[in-house]
Amino acid sequence: MLKRTCNCGDPRKENSGETITLSGWVNTYRDQGKGLVFIDLRDRYGMTQVVFDGEDSPQETMEIGSSLRREDVISVEGVVRVRDGAPNKKLATGEIELVAKRIEVINRTETLPILPDDHDADQIGEEHRLRYRYIDLRRPKMQRILKLRHQITQFTRNFFADRNFLEVETPLLISPTPEGARDFIVPSRHQAGRWYALPQSPQIFKQILMVAGCDRYMQICKCLRDEDPRADRQAEFTQIDLEMSFVERDDVLDIMSEFATSIYKEVSGIDLGDLPRISWSDAMNNYGSDRPDIRFDLQFTDVTDVVKANDFKVFASAIEQGGVVKAMRVPGGASTLTRKMTDGYAEIAQTYGAGGLPSVKLVDGEFTTGISKFIASVKDELVSALSLEDGDLVLFGVGPFRVACTSLGQVRLQVAKDMGLVNEDEYKGLWVIDFPMFDWDEERERFISEHHPFTAPLESELDKLRDNPIDCISSGYDLCINGSEVAGGSIRIHNPETQSLVFEKLGLSAEEAKTKFGFLLDALQFGAPPHGGIAFGLDRLVMMMIGTDNIRDVIAFPKTQTGADLMCEAPGDADPEHLEELGITVDVSDDATAQV
Ligand code: AMO
Repeated sequence: MLKRTCNCGDPRKENSGETITLSGWVNTYRDQGKGLVFIDLRDRYGMTQVVFDGEDSPQETMEIGSSLRREDVISVEGVVRVRDGAPNKKLATGEIELVAKRIEVINRTETLPILPDDHDADQIGEEHRLRYRYIDLRRPKMQRILKLRHQITQFTRNFFADRNFLEVETPLLISPTPEGARDFIVPSRHQAGRWYALPQSPQIFKQILMVAGCDRYMQICKCLRDEDPRADRQAEFTQIDLEMSFVERDDVLDIMSEFATSIYKEVSGIDLGDLPRISWSDAMNNYGSDRPDIRFDLQFTDVTDVVKANDFKVFASAIEQGGVVKAMRVPGGASTLTRKMTDGYAEIAQTYGAGGLPSVKLVDGEFTTGISKFIASVKDELVSALSLEDGDLVLFGVGPFRVACTSLGQVRLQVAKDMGLVNEDEYKGLWVIDFPMFDWDEERERFISEHHPFTAPLESELDKLRDNPIDCISSGYDLCINGSEVAGGSIRIHNPETQSLVFEKLGLSAEEAKTKFGFLLDALQFGAPPHGGIAFGLDRLVMMMIGTDNIRDVIAFPKTQTGADLMCEAPGDADPEHLEELGITVDVSDDATAQV
């Protein structure tokens, strides 16, 4: 084989006259006729134009050169020469070309199902790109993403190693973890009928590592959650997972703020600025989200007290049932947003549990359209409370606190898009702190953890944990950037009594707690230091840095919406003998549910 002497991105004017060998893929092929063939030869590092020139290339090389097709793999030895005419400014090697002297076709390609072109990628169905991922990954954009992801993990390892964190691997075959999603399970051969769970996160193990005196832990790890994928969610994803001993909340937030701002700066040149800390209650009250996008300033005002005096039925009955009325002023929205758009917003609000989305416009000093005639009696008070100006639109979120805020919060995002308020080149982050410990699950009539059951209440809130759990504030925190939750964590409970109390509030009997998390409860009894930590979603970090809203773009081998790997055709069938060995019989009923 002709062995390459440098990469396709290397040769420059200074190498003119040198004999070099390049290896790679034929990116483009142009036969100019008259014994002149040009190809761009591509590898990971760049592209060089190779010319098969009847005058300067030997006959045999010329013939092979003329037979090339896109994506053939070749090695070519030749002489670097400065190009005639203007350099190709799009290529780093654009001032030179390689005059082919010897060529070896290492592998011809069949007719390609897709081409690795960035500008064609949007036209090709994603299914096709995932099936032929090895071709899709050749695209310069995908190569850039792979490199960026590598730079992020390298930076991360160095950053934390410099600060005394130890990288420790934790197991994949474990017992269930409590992140709230469904577990993937794996049958045991040695103990037929018993199952391992795959980790939703290394949560318990990293806490155990603190009990083990590890002091500072980090790991870049795979997490597996059997939940339906979404644009920013995969069943198999990667976390930058961290835990620290003898820390309080601010210690964790300080070091993680430094990490977040420096990784954005170093890897992508993005200035995140300060990362302010706001309470969950302010985030919900003002933005209707626990991960608010603060690149634009649409905020809510609580008008429950203002509209109380009015007898508009929708407001009155919500307030009577303990609910709230939130109002969002949309400056200039009266003329910019069409009826069709506001109807669309109402649908969004309904999707998030609201009965509808009352609205009103202020035109020539009067309320018009929507619910104007029902709230005329409180017009002046609303104008003053919301500092309304002519031409404004007001949208109302009505219902129980979480529903009113969240539904209007989702509408806020769409309004910002429609009004062109989102600057896609801007990056703004913030910490959301002071989450409630619990939310109330109406259906199951029990508390559920807002973070996870190992999250400690704030020290000052211990009494509430006992007597008034719904009002108890936790030590949890989330880092949100541009409205996406990129990291979440908390200070953990490090004494067994508080941990048992939290399990009890979550409706877990002592017995169940012992069965599920006995080893952690045991560990807490044998000298657990105070500790806390966090996990960053690595995929989401990369998504943001390259500006995509599709998580599959940043994962080399992602899964589809139905959890399939189209390239290797997983999930697939299991060998019946293998199943027998595991003591498993499979009965797939009509509705395609496998009963084991
Ligand atoms: P949490 O469940 O909040 O916390 O996850 C931490 C971060 O991981 C990312 N993330 C995901 N990314 C892609 N696909 C998913 N399905 C997915 N789920 C989560 C998010 C999120 O902020 N053990 C705790 C952390 C801790 O308390 O230290 C945990 O896993 O960016």
